[in-house]
Amino acid sequence: MRMYDLIYTKKTGGALSAEQIAFWVKGAADGSLPDEQSAALLMAICWRGMSTEETLALTLAMRDSGKRLDLSAIPGLKVDKHSTGGVGDKTTLILGPIVAACGVPCPMFSGRGLGHTGGTVDKFAAIPGLKVELSEAEFLRSLAETRFANSAQTADIAPADRKLYALRDITATVESIPLITASIMSKKLAGGADALVLDVKCGGSAFMKTQAEARALAQSMVDVGTAHGMQIRALVTRMDAPLGWAIGNALEVMESVEILRGEHGESELAQMSFRLAAEMLIMGGAARTLDEALGLVQTSIKKGTALATLRRFVALNSGDPKALDDFSRLPQAGQVVEIRADRAGHITAIDGRALGLLAMDLGAGRRDRNDILDLGVGLRVLAQVGRPVAAGEPLFRVHAKAGARIDPAPYLATLRISAEPVTPAPWLLETLGC
Ligand code: URA
Repeated sequence: MRMYDLIYTKKTGGALSAEQIAFWVKGAADGSLPDEQSAALLMAICWRGMSTEETLALTLAMRDSGKRLDLSAIPGLKVDKHSTGGVGDKTTLILGPIVAACGVPCPMFSGRGLGHTGGTVDKFAAIPGLKVELSEAEFLRSLAETRFANSAQTADIAPADRKLYALRDITATVESIPLITASIMSKKLAGGADALVLDVKCGGSAFMKTQAEARALAQSMVDVGTAHGMQIRALVTRMDAPLGWAIGNALEVMESVEILRGEHGESELAQMSFRLAAEMLIMGGAARTLDEALGLVQTSIKKGTALATLRRFVALNSGDPKALDDFSRLPQAGQVVEIRADRAGHITAIDGRALGLLAMDLGAGRRDRNDILDLGVGLRVLAQVGRPVAAGEPLFRVHAKAGARIDPAPYLATLRISAEPVTPAPWLLETLGC
């Protein structure tokens, strides 16, 4: 088989066979094929796309490039969640403990943040002592003892994805629905869960800008999961403003714990986390209807079992569970600077992506993969779309390094303030899958 023929076939709009795709993925991962040829094929796929069969074959080849986790020793249906990510998205920290507390095992592998979006691993790393890279034995023990496990993706899960993603990153070939599908689903299938709930976001601060693009990605992932016998359901959600009040790692832990304590229950972040948790409970067989599942979620908050599950997960994995009750034990910023409205009006839009980049500049996110984070810095976003604002009212609290000079202008520029009020658009746009 010649790589040249694969590139030529795809460049001219043809379809690749499963054998050809397996040949490419193996050669890309083991270094026997030159990166230039993989990069050329990635660009051809970006332009020409892939059929469902090709996307399936790519997903399987990437999954089989590494280890597959065997979760069969853990009783019950194991349910995972994936979000395409957004600024302030800390739903994993909230829904993982809720789902586990309601009796459904929740195995999760997460990533580190890059650019304007934070990563779940970095948020968990803000809990002092918590081990965020679990060995397979530690992951299984956490799942067995608390029904919740979250770890950084290990190097032996779908290694071909790491290689191909690095090439996509430098060749402007990240935004391709079959490539994103295979990248995400290969890791999810290797992770061993029986069922998966997807949160596919669209909007200004998300990967997919329009609802139609987000729907196409969601459908592609649902097709691949279903073909592999996985129960899978996708929610397409809107993502323009940051999700919740916190951006930055320790601050996001605080906000998640507040929601698990029963605070901010009407917020979009809480409602989204509760809905995703409810979908997971239905898939895991703990509830038959959405109402029943949402009732279980509320009980786990009211009785404190969800927060107790998070405490047990933290303690089991060498973290300080007292930090969940006493936030002064979490990493802190050197100074807090308040930014106030320079005029009165109604907030009609908040640019989440721009705020994510500002938080990155403070040290909460990585510009480069090797950057070291400051886990205590970030933003408290007090502004909310749909709310009136008075001149001089605080809009942001910037948690910054001691001595850093904070210019209010770029923060104020992230807000649109108009004379007329707006009603915030609903966050849930549509659902797909079983
Ligand atoms: N997340 C992934 O893991 N892969 C992609 O291709 C895009 C987002």
